[in-house]
Amino acid sequence: MKLNLKIWRQKNANDKGQMVTYPIDGIDGDMSFLEMLDILNEELIIKGEDPVAFDHDCREGICGMCSLFINGEAHGPDRAVTTCQLHMRKFKDGETIFIEPWRAKAFPVIKDLIVDRSAFDRVMSAGGFVSVNTSGNTIDANSIPIPKHDADKAFEAATCIGCGACVASCKNSSAMLFVSAKVSQLALLPQGKVEAKDRVLNMVKMMDEEGFGNCTNTGACAVECPKEISLDNIARMNREYFGAMISAE
Ligand code: SF4
Ligand code: FES
Repeated sequence: MKLNLKIWRQKNANDKGQMVTYPIDGIDGDMSFLEMLDILNEELIIKGEDPVAFDHDCREGICGMCSLFINGEAHGPDRAVTTCQLHMRKFKDGETIFIEPWRAKAFPVIKDLIVDRSAFDRVMSAGGFVSVNTSGNTIDANSIPIPKHDADKAFEAATCIGCGACVASCKNSSAMLFVSAKVSQLALLPQGKVEAKDRVLNMVKMMDEEGFGNCTNTGACAVECPKEISLDNIARMNREYFGAMISAE
């Protein structure tokens, strides 16, 4: 398979950046998208050129690092997969593929295709946790009964891998799907109820401070989410938020 790659190259956070064209040949349909980029980088290194910087770690859809905007879609043209799970058979021989980093004010580009997603970490630090007293009389988590429906919904929300595709796909760069998944995961469980009110208020406050935009119910986030996180989580977070606001007054 022969391809024409147009890749965003940017030396550092202050560089203006530009699209650079790289023709590539010998790509097999069974290769992953990142393996295709590995081959390109090997060729660039042999030629003495700077390889394309891109984020990756697990390469099995778990870590959320491989954040690429491919032909205008977060994680490319396939559904419910991350870029590392995307196969080259999804593209046609001779196709031109545009590869860009996430574009959002809260995710500044560090180099080439790598963005700084530490804003998500700060949102998590603001409330995405439960405090457990480990003084010796902690209740065994398994001894607290949880309705199956709630456990399933909490588990679904917990599958969010923090990749940021929801932000990159949203015209407002909203992080509502990510934050609502994290709020929902804990709000649905008894262990999360203790700090529920402070959690949702603090996480939403931090989300706004980090420069993420507002949700206008477009739904692009849920379409592009590799873990199929449901918009229901946003509705749940809004209920949690207004409930917490009213009881705080
Ligand atoms: S909600 Fe989906 S798109 Fe957003 S960070 Fe989580 S897994 Fe990624
Ligand atoms: S490299 Fe971990 S999800 Fe893609």
